[in-house]
Amino acid sequence: MKNRSSIKSLLFGILAMFATFSVFADEPVDADAAIKLARSKSCLRCHGVSKRKEGPSYASVAKVYKNDKDAEEIIYKQITESPKVKLRDGHKELHKAIQDMPKEQIMNLVHWILAQ
Ligand code: HEC
Repeated sequence: MKNRSSIKSLLFGILAMFATFSVFADEPVDADAAIKLARSKSCLRCHGVSKRKEGPSYASVAKVYKNDKDAEEIIYKQITESPKVKLRDGHKELHKAIQDMPKEQIMNLVHWILAQ
């Protein structure tokens, strides 16, 4: 009897694990949290959702990376590793980076950008 119930709980555990993974796989974007983060890090000063400012609009970024399987990684690096970017007046500076946030929140912003 004891064995059977531990097998049962093992099976249940495996099922629960699968359920968790599939929830992660198509986790919905929390748009409010993404916009709040973008605003607090002044991303929106240089990027409109659909309007080009100093940098490309997020809609155009989403379009460029539409079929790129590395999109998430590229955008994640763009906003965590400060690559050099060229502004409209021609001067170069290090891109704004977010380093003081949990990865899930940064990934949520990445997913939001790619969904524009
Ligand atoms: C001072 C202006 C400025 C700020 C602030 C800024 N960016 Fe940018 N960003 C740029 C410019 C300019 C580019 C274009 C870089 C290039 O094409 O070389 C860019 C490019 C990007 C790209 C496109 C990368 C690619 O590979 O196509 C993304 C995504 C992005 N920024 C997101 C963000 C996020 C998120 C924030 C806030 C954490 C942010 N940016 C803050 C100016 C800015």
